[in-house]
Amino acid sequence: MSVVNFMAEEISLHEHLGTLKRKELAVLIYSFSQLAIDIRRELPHKLRGGAHQKNKYGEIRKELDEWTNKFLIEQLGNTKLVNKVYSEELSEPVVLNSNAPFFISLDPLDGSSNIETNNPFGTIMGIYENDLPIIGTKIVAAAYILYGPITTLVYRAGGGTHEFVKHRKGNEDYYLINENMKLPEPGRVFGIGGNPLDWDGKFLKFAKDLFRKHKLKVRYCGAFVGDFSQILHQGGFFSYPASLSLPGGKLRLFFEAQPMSYLIEGAGGAASNGRERILEIDSTCVDDTTPLYMGNKKIVKELEDVLEE
Ligand code: AHG
Ligand code: MN
Ligand code: MN
Repeated sequence: MSVVNFMAEEISLHEHLGTLKRKELAVLIYSFSQLAIDIRRELPHKLRGGAHQKNKYGEIRKELDEWTNKFLIEQLGNTKLVNKVYSEELSEPVVLNSNAPFFISLDPLDGSSNIETNNPFGTIMGIYENDLPIIGTKIVAAAYILYGPITTLVYRAGGGTHEFVKHRKGNEDYYLINENMKLPEPGRVFGIGGNPLDWDGKFLKFAKDLFRKHKLKVRYCGAFVGDFSQILHQGGFFSYPASLSLPGGKLRLFFEAQPMSYLIEGAGGAASNGRERILEIDSTCVDDTTPLYMGNKKIVKELEDVLEE
């Protein structure tokens, strides 16, 4: 296909969002997408200055988390569409505009410990029309930006799950690369967080079967958004399971699990806490964590059966 034809068929994120019935939702998601430009530009600069700002673990991630959190809340507030922001980085929500229609959950930097090692990291946003805590089936839209070798954005707003790549020029748009994504069947990769010596014996046997029975390969980068993108593209299984030291799992229900579960269900996958659908967990605490098992429906069902034995 010649370049000219290829360019003629490109759909920009702006155009794709234009098909949403809720124009305000389109504006919010598009505004979110544009913030990647500043984040991608600012973080290396912060790393340069980071030499003297390392905390006792030799990390500067806290400073990066805080800067990104502040930047995102300010910029999303400028849309005048956000009533309240619940951020992983804050113990209390920020009220921005009590007349605005949307409540959002934010993981400003997911996988921030990956920044210093130049590995994938991202930003996760959940969008609701009612205040949190709220059951996941009420989510209106979700999106994440993945800062990898390239910058991609995935969103779902009632329909399918769609992926866009950021154009090379700063103020240019994103362009559609995958529409109405479906997890490949059978899946090809898996990633599981935590310490295998700490896992429940039934889960350990299930994990070995991912090699033995499902012939999956390991893909684990230590950032949920990066590992999620592997499963979205290759199919398979991702988990940060319940364990002896973390019986409630590690990942946050509102800041990570609900939005990403909404996205994987849009791509024909499943997301469970081992007993029930993540989107049907009725939590009363925005800081809750949850054991998380997601991927191809067949594998997640198998996992639930194993844990039920
Ligand atoms: P965050 O940087 O927002 O705290 O998220 C990190 C999370 C998640 O991105 C990832 O899946 C998990 O922590 C990795 O945990 P381990 O470092 O224990 O593997
Ligand atoms: Mn995170
Ligand atoms: Mn985070």
